[in-house]
Amino acid sequence: MGSPSNGKITVPAILDRKNRGRKITMLTAYDFQMASLLDQTGIDILLVGDSLATVVLGYDNSLPVTMEEMLHHTRAVSRGTDRALLVADLPFLSFHLSIEETVRNAGRFLKEGGAQAVKLEGGVQRKNAIQALVAAEIPVMGHVGLTPQSIHRLGGYRVQGRSRNQARRLLEDAQAVEEAGAFAIVLEGIPGTLASVITRRLRIPTIGIGAGVGCDGQVLVTNDLLGMDGDRPPRFVRRFADLRAEIQAAVGRFLSEVEGGTFPSARETYSVSEPIDLEMPEELEAEDGDS
Ligand code: KIV
Repeated sequence: MGSPSNGKITVPAILDRKNRGRKITMLTAYDFQMASLLDQTGIDILLVGDSLATVVLGYDNSLPVTMEEMLHHTRAVSRGTDRALLVADLPFLSFHLSIEETVRNAGRFLKEGGAQAVKLEGGVQRKNAIQALVAAEIPVMGHVGLTPQSIHRLGGYRVQGRSRNQARRLLEDAQAVEEAGAFAIVLEGIPGTLASVITRRLRIPTIGIGAGVGCDGQVLVTNDLLGMDGDRPPRFVRRFADLRAEIQAAVGRFLSEVEGGTFPSARETYSVSEPIDLEMPEELEAEDGDS
């Protein structure tokens, strides 16, 4: 893994972006190959999101994904990441039961997973947890607004902070995360005007998803950005490519070339280096006949 002097993006460098007014880019990654491909684009932060549950593992929501599954994928992403800051998401129930368990779980992402920071969902209620992690030298990225792990309490994936009361509570949540010592915060699924106010009020950078252009940075689920999903994307997603169609077209060509006998061609087939006797030894012929 590259050192900070090799251009590695660090936690202080992300904080500094806010002072310099340079936007922060963050995308999700779940495996080695995609991590290394994304890392080479100059992306600032790779997040092993608990969206792993839905995007990769096929669950209906993010609640079922486990610490072990998150760690397994964080290790793979870490092997493909040299430059970007690697952040791992604390899955549901890994930071709710006790401070000790929260620190132990988060610490595993740094010790075993190769991450440089963790992300956790929640505001005022998570202040103690964030403080304890920061005290244990574990950098924390907060996450408030439409927090997918709260799907049952929220009654679905609903935009948050639309009313004055909700907006005030969200600002308090974001401020609590900052006061607890987080180095950045994700604002998800909130009105753009509210995200801009929070961004102006905080010293730490805000990274928006469905929160408008006024944030200090933007994050998307990579598979959404690439158009890998067959479903209609949420309003805030922009599909920068249509890879689902491209992959299906490529596989369609593979199917017809195999069926038509035009794949593999001679160029795609190994040849012998000298004439060989193609008569099969008797015992092989017998074996062949037996099977
Ligand atoms: O799990 C995830 O992918 C996330 C991002 C969308 C912020 O939390």
